[in-house]
Amino acid sequence: MTVDAAATLIGSARSAVALTGAGVSAESGIPTFRGEGGLWTKYDPVKVSSIDAFLADPTAYWEVARERGGLAQAARPNAGHEALAALEARGRLHAVVTQNTDGLHQAAGSKRVVELHGSGRTVECLACGAREPRSDVQARLEVEMPPRCRTCGATLLKPTVVFFGQAMPPAAVREAYALAEQADVMVVVGTSLVVYPAADVPLAAVRAGARLIVINAEPTPFDRLAEVVIHGRSGDVLPRIVDLIGG
Ligand code: OAD
Repeated sequence: MTVDAAATLIGSARSAVALTGAGVSAESGIPTFRGEGGLWTKYDPVKVSSIDAFLADPTAYWEVARERGGLAQAARPNAGHEALAALEARGRLHAVVTQNTDGLHQAAGSKRVVELHGSGRTVECLACGAREPRSDVQARLEVEMPPRCRTCGATLLKPTVVFFGQAMPPAAVREAYALAEQADVMVVVGTSLVVYPAADVPLAAVRAGARLIVINAEPTPFDRLAEVVIHGRSGDVLPRIVDLIGG
């Protein structure tokens, strides 16, 4: 059985590393970007979250973020996040590299989390650099659109997430590649693997000799490179792997 094979690989790994994406948080009620019901089936990502579009019209971004950001604020970690945290706590998983900006891995107790696309929990004013918690900005969207900086009054408040057209945080990228190159097992969970350079992280691991496990609701372009492919929900599959590996 494939779940057994995944448990055997992770259970005997010297350094297993996970790369996660929006699918891991789907069972927490945060819609994914692609795939069934994905955000980008309703909106054009270049219009909503590219840096050029944002600078031209922050309102368009915040109108979408009012809904999705609200869901992310309210979301709690699910069984998939908890399973990854449990694997780390038991010494079976070295780190989680994530494309997610929702902070749910940390909320579940994962300690080493590399955020490739930044964090949606903080908002920064592009005019004066002041920062404030996302929850504060999110709370005033009903009465203030677009939201204004509390310090300078500008309407260029942007979450500290990476938008299309922006570079990824260099330190996070370096750490992700270093982890990938040292990994002997790479577990990819809940990502369509179509956004680069994040999708290059598991490729770097495979190039360096790691064995690849893919756990995703739908097929991915890397399934053919994987030793184990499980098409299922991370909140179902990961806890079963934890149970099979045991304490
Ligand atoms: P996507 O939305 O592209 O892919 C999510 C994948 O998760 C899809 O292939 C779904 O089939 C799968 N999925 C859905 N529910 C699942 C579940 N319960 N268990 C397992 N898999 C499930 O998300 P990402 O690959 O993370 O970029 O997207 C990458 C980047 O594109 C995001 O980080 C974001 C976006 O534009 C930025 O914000 C810069």
